[in-house]
Amino acid sequence: MSVQRFQWDDTLLTGVAMIDTQHKEYFRRVNQALASAETDDEAGCLKELQFVQEYALDHFDAEQNVTTFHEYPGYEGHLTQHQTFASRLDALAEALSSEGFRTDVGRRLNALLVEWFVRHIRTEDQRLGKYLKDRPRAGQA
Ligand SMILES: [Fe+2]
Repeated sequence: MSVQRFQWDDTLLTGVAMIDTQHKEYFRRVNQALASAETDDEAGCLKELQFVQEYALDHFDAEQNVTTFHEYPGYEGHLTQHQTFASRLDALAEALSSEGFRTDVGRRLNALLVEWFVRHIRTEDQRLGKYLKDRPRAGQA
């Protein structure tokens, strides 16, 4: 089965070095999960997914620390999106491990891990990046 991979491009940058570095690592690991799904390596894919789950939570914590430290006014909405993602990822990992992989596994992984995340970066994270850039020294966070 062929599974579409994520291709990074710099229009996804937020301008905040820490966040951008973490986003790139996130997608690198997501691509490893997608590669495992493509070769029907269920155990390998679930292991990668577990890593992605933990990594995403750490990354969200880091972003939330920056937003609270710099008193970002969009904090609540941003936090809600992170929580939504985390619970959807939990549910997906749970479903894949209990039901086993089907032919739509690549599409399901892509819909959440890539499409949702890209949308989140292009809206919330880039809005946060712009806010931080407009504040003196905040972009160094
Ligand atoms: Fe975010």
